[in-house]
Amino acid sequence: MRLMVAADYDRLSEKAADLFAAEVTLQPDCVLGLATGSTPVGMYRALVDKARRENLDFSQVRTFNLDEYRGLAGDHPQSYRYFMEQQLFRPLGMTASQTFIPDGMASDPDKEAARYEAAIEAAGGIDLQLLGIGGNGHIGFNEPADHFPVHTHLTALTESTISANARFFDRMEEVPREAITMGIGTILKARRILLLASGAGKAEILWRALYGPVTPQVPASILQLHPDVWVIADRVAAAEIAKREKLPPQHEDL
Ligand code: GLP
Repeated sequence: MRLMVAADYDRLSEKAADLFAAEVTLQPDCVLGLATGSTPVGMYRALVDKARRENLDFSQVRTFNLDEYRGLAGDHPQSYRYFMEQQLFRPLGMTASQTFIPDGMASDPDKEAARYEAAIEAAGGIDLQLLGIGGNGHIGFNEPADHFPVHTHLTALTESTISANARFFDRMEEVPREAITMGIGTILKARRILLLASGAGKAEILWRALYGPVTPQVPASILQLHPDVWVIADRVAAAEIAKREKLPPQHEDL
């Protein structure tokens, strides 16, 4: 694992955008795994700016998002499809044929999950996967559990995730309780993974995920077993690691 500690959220976003831009430059037909949540918003903005400034060509890139809420159509403002269209796909001029997100309205979610998993395989697998981390250690929507789910699947969200998501909805009843998410196995198959963590609220869970025991109770802890993981944390998110581990030798300050 390579840990980078960014001075602040802007630095974190710039560095993450640099890594994604480099991937696209080196391999114009790369397959990117993308994430939602508030953490990558700054990175997507920086990537769009960079793409315009440096004429980056995204025409051959394909993307697969981690997850989508069940029951929200792509034009619902809180759906992850809508979020991605606004934040990244439209500004980069990427078309629907390049960008894959599970269909939250599929009548048979298990079939949709299997179809999504097969589509990732058919694309040759993910070259670079972006991840955020939930307050309870979830990645994608793989919630704390007694096992690591392997493939893309339908999942019930925990109460803590439902309340964390409630800030985006007008009424509690509107907050989705299920999602289709890549599995832990799907995520681990990515050739390289970039995990972003920002804010004091992530400090404790980031430390537990990266330095604690590997356990399905902290789904992100599985990343310790992946051979090529990069982590960018801003200083406050890295505070618990700095305090308890005195920052490991392979870390780098940004
Ligand atoms: C949601 C997403 C995750 C994301 C998490 C953290 O649960 N499914 O992919 O990492 O939120 O969100 P934030 O970045 O807003 O803290």
